[in-house]
Amino acid sequence: MALSIAIDGPAGAGKSTIAKRVADSLNIVYVDTGAMYRAIALYMIRTKTDVNEELSVCAALTDVKIDVVFKDGTQALLLNGEDVNAFIRTPEVSEAASIVSSYGPVREKLVAEQRRLAQNTDMIMDGRDIGTCVLPNASLKIYLTASSAVRAKRRYLELAAAGSECDLDEIQRGIEVRDERDMNREISPLRKADDAKLIDSSYMTIDEVVEQILWYVRRL
Ligand code: DC
Repeated sequence: MALSIAIDGPAGAGKSTIAKRVADSLNIVYVDTGAMYRAIALYMIRTKTDVNEELSVCAALTDVKIDVVFKDGTQALLLNGEDVNAFIRTPEVSEAASIVSSYGPVREKLVAEQRRLAQNTDMIMDGRDIGTCVLPNASLKIYLTASSAVRAKRRYLELAAAGSECDLDEIQRGIEVRDERDMNREISPLRKADDAKLIDSSYMTIDEVVEQILWYVRRL
């Protein structure tokens, strides 16, 4: 059976940074499932589909093809054949992704694709429902969290480094609204799987979190 590591947690907990590092150390693939929800959100924004209208979003889904491909070990996200990695990290897309990801048909479409990806490949997959829904039999499950203030600060620094103008308080509010929605939606809400290892990274360095996960992997 392929090695599968599920890593779930709230926005800005450091999942993608940590997952990439673990993937490199173990020479396995990293799958960012949030990027898939973001690509669907981008499609809705581009086509001026109101993301608050579940029926409109679900009707538009038939025109959306999401493909995850790997180039030199890095994930490229194709939206109807176009690599959209550069367009899916804006606050507008973050907010829209959090909304469209609460719709059942959106989740069904992406969960099926995520399970297919994990079938025969050793990988670490990050998201909100990987341990609880996508890969319930994952070899290792991690629930990575941090306080909302720490998570906002990290997102702020990331955006500032990329040259975006941003406001720390606004980012923290945005994170809290998304947490609330992700944790309280009806379908596959964000929660720690019973058998997941909890890591609170508020006062840990990236290296420490990576080392902790590799420690768990060595004990599998
Ligand atoms: O991890 P992220 O911030 O890129 O995720 C974007 C949104 O997608 C987030 O608000 C929650 C949603 N999401 C989800 O519902 N399930 C996943 N497996 C991954 C992300």
